[in-house]
Amino acid sequence: MSTTIARFGQRDHTSCHKAHCKTVHFATYSAEDITTVAHVTDDTPVIEIRDLHKSYGALEVLKGVDIKANAGDVVSLIGSSGSGKSTLLRCANLLEDSQQGEILFSGEPVRWRGTGMARHPADRAQLIRIRTNLSMVFQQFNLWAHMTILQNVMEAPVTVLKRDKAEVEAAARKYLEKVGIGDKCDVYPAQLSGGQQQRAAIARALCMEPKALLFDEPTSALDPELEQEVVRVIKDLANEGRTMIIVTHDMRMAADVSDHVVFLHQGRIEEEGDPQSLFGSPKTERLKQFLSATVSA
Ligand SMILES: Nc1ncnc2c1ncn2[C@@H]1O[C@H](COP(=O)(O)OP(=O)(O)OP(=O)(O)O)[C@@H](O)[C@H]1O
Ligand SMILES: [Mg+2]
Repeated sequence: MSTTIARFGQRDHTSCHKAHCKTVHFATYSAEDITTVAHVTDDTPVIEIRDLHKSYGALEVLKGVDIKANAGDVVSLIGSSGSGKSTLLRCANLLEDSQQGEILFSGEPVRWRGTGMARHPADRAQLIRIRTNLSMVFQQFNLWAHMTILQNVMEAPVTVLKRDKAEVEAAARKYLEKVGIGDKCDVYPAQLSGGQQQRAAIARALCMEPKALLFDEPTSALDPELEQEVVRVIKDLANEGRTMIIVTHDMRMAADVSDHVVFLHQGRIEEEGDPQSLFGSPKTERLKQFLSATVSA
């Protein structure tokens, strides 16, 4: 069995530690589940998507999208409703199948069987590895209503990764503390505000010790005041060098936290760049229109 689990970037010391942990945790899968991981260097992107095409039936939603996030990068995805942002995130962590193009995770290409509409991930162990290394935070929190906050955060590391329960509990408490709700371990989601629930969802994502976090509109279900609590947590994560892809309608947050911003329009990347140039001097008419509509909204 290979123990060559991909290395993390040097800017994130927490992640360096996590790389070691994953080697141990994935030993809980059977030997044939674990396959050799591609050789990686420090500049190998954590996630790289090349020429991705995705259709729902006759509707082509992604029409050849390229995107990548190096270790420690924060990439924001912006664009109007229906432009394909959520679909792209869901394809990235293999929640959705795509029909064409490549998805590489720490340099390791997703292996497919079949082509076109019949294309699916071919390797179960790889699928598990990728999913568990890309934690997703959703707009609607998706916490289990019947579990306490602590149980919510501990659930996947214990049941999916088969990690030691006491260790996971210590980590879960640490992450809940980190997002500012360390005193809410024993309450149920319904007893928390939206902002607190979303911060619990972020703690849950962190407790998987993922290589990257994917956020799909993490603040858009929240009132402005609660939104800021969550934005602060996301900024802290960016400052500590976490690799993140964030779909957001919050242009201020995108400008503040991102290394790179991608503007998606009707399934294509219309414009991309560093936040200063993209927001400061947009080049395409579509981005100009989008930004002026967003600002005046
Ligand atoms: N499961 C699905 N089945 C069929 N069509 C879908 C499905 N999911 C999304 N679509 C369609 O794909 C297109 C892109 O949807 P997507 O949810 O990715 O957009 P989005 O950019 O995230 O929009 P929003 O800002 O409103 O969240 C839309 O036309 C949508 O109707
Ligand atoms: Mg969406």
